[in-house]
Amino acid sequence: MTESNVASSAASNESAKYPENAMEKLISLCKRKGFVYQGSEIYGGLAGTWDYGPLGVALKQNIQNLWWKKFVLDREDMYGVDAAILMNQEVWKASGHVAGFADPLVEDLKTKKRFRADHLLEEVGVDPRGMTLEQMDALIKEKGVKSPDGNALGDVRQFNMMFKTNVGATQDENSISYLRPETAQGIFVNFKNVVDSFHPKMPFGIAQIGKAFRNEIAPRDFIFRVRELEQMEIEYFVRPEQWEEIFENLYAEQLAFLDEIGLDKAKIHKIVVPAADRAHYSKHSVDTEFDFPFGQKELLGLAYRTDFDLNAHMKASGVDISYFDESETDPEKRRFVPHCIEPTFGVGRLFLAILSSAYREDNLGEEPRAYLALSPRVAPILVAVSPLLKNKPQLVDKAREIYSKLRKEFPGRVMFDDNGNIGKRYRRQDEIGTPFCIVVDFDTVEKDAGVTVRHRDTGEQERVSVEGLVSILKKSQG
Ligand code: GAP
Repeated sequence: MTESNVASSAASNESAKYPENAMEKLISLCKRKGFVYQGSEIYGGLAGTWDYGPLGVALKQNIQNLWWKKFVLDREDMYGVDAAILMNQEVWKASGHVAGFADPLVEDLKTKKRFRADHLLEEVGVDPRGMTLEQMDALIKEKGVKSPDGNALGDVRQFNMMFKTNVGATQDENSISYLRPETAQGIFVNFKNVVDSFHPKMPFGIAQIGKAFRNEIAPRDFIFRVRELEQMEIEYFVRPEQWEEIFENLYAEQLAFLDEIGLDKAKIHKIVVPAADRAHYSKHSVDTEFDFPFGQKELLGLAYRTDFDLNAHMKASGVDISYFDESETDPEKRRFVPHCIEPTFGVGRLFLAILSSAYREDNLGEEPRAYLALSPRVAPILVAVSPLLKNKPQLVDKAREIYSKLRKEFPGRVMFDDNGNIGKRYRRQDEIGTPFCIVVDFDTVEKDAGVTVRHRDTGEQERVSVEGLVSILKKSQG
């Protein structure tokens, strides 16, 4: 469903307890440690854009790789594509986005700043779900809602969220294109190509990871609501009579994925979206919401898009994109337009949910610490390798040797760290969520007595043979 059409309910759940000012602390940690920076920061930023730093890229890639493995590589019924971001404008007319991909907007009559009408209503305790534009407009007037700057507001209007551009040297009606607002349409327009190349049997899915763009009126909550986002989407094609069973299976797979990346189950909520709030293409939608530090909000979605999109493209393009099922015995049922179920995941929201879920404050060894209890599957750095003392060449050489060996097994996920004393190194690694720290000491080199492996969450240490390290680390990848 179109996320922007839904107002999220406020956090109420006991499980949503976070350390005080968790969001501010998380944003600061993200910047300090190189997870996420403000977009175009040295020029004062660009609202709704964020840049991922070295550790952010690593975390994001781990999420994407796990997703791709689970939903594409490990399945026989899934095909991957990577479609262009710019598409023929007819795609967006046929899909209904030119006419209807809009948010309710209201303008501050003095400053001319624009705000989401549904957000303003939420702030005065009104749940705007399912309301028409006219109903929102009437309520804003009736309740005397003012802009956040205290000024009077104009009428509620629709605001199309697609970024418009022109392709080529001429700027006229024919050269108009849009930055795609969802990756899904890149899949629908390639449905026939994939069928012609691979002749997949029903049911099957096409998956894609990529950028999407939405000119959100009110980007907010760090990377939660942004203007340039990344989606991981599957369009899963089925016979119409199969949809309910497959919908339930895909919902279970979505939840299993959230578990695999280490999200706190107690913070996850299933929301069956009421008819009035479903996107125009959906006949049934289930959103998965998550208790973020700023409230319970949409994390991902699942929609039964019926044959809406394939039919719309067939009609608008004039190309027959129906499916012919050779194995069907009933001749009447052999050719048909498949129905579609769409599991959709926002990468940035998963990233933020993972970090929020993992952020912890405790006392370890009488000292307060803040750390990220990231699952070893997604942690940007899986293991840090250190010599006990940096001025002892025999320790440094051995630590370097182990580091090189582990790097071959876990490319990009091993860090060599000999800065400061051991205690400081542990704290630094805890803060970025590194699950394991390995220390090479004199017993390692003089007695061949293995290394110490220190566990992030408990601070406990164990002695492990150098040969045993790889298998322990592999096991952690589950
Ligand atoms: N193809 C269906 C579709 O795009 P959607 O609910 O509008 O549905 C899917 O978006 C997912 O994309 C959402 O569940 C959310 O995770 C993410 N998303 C949507 N708008 C976003 C935004 N402005 N910023 C960050 N993530 C967003």
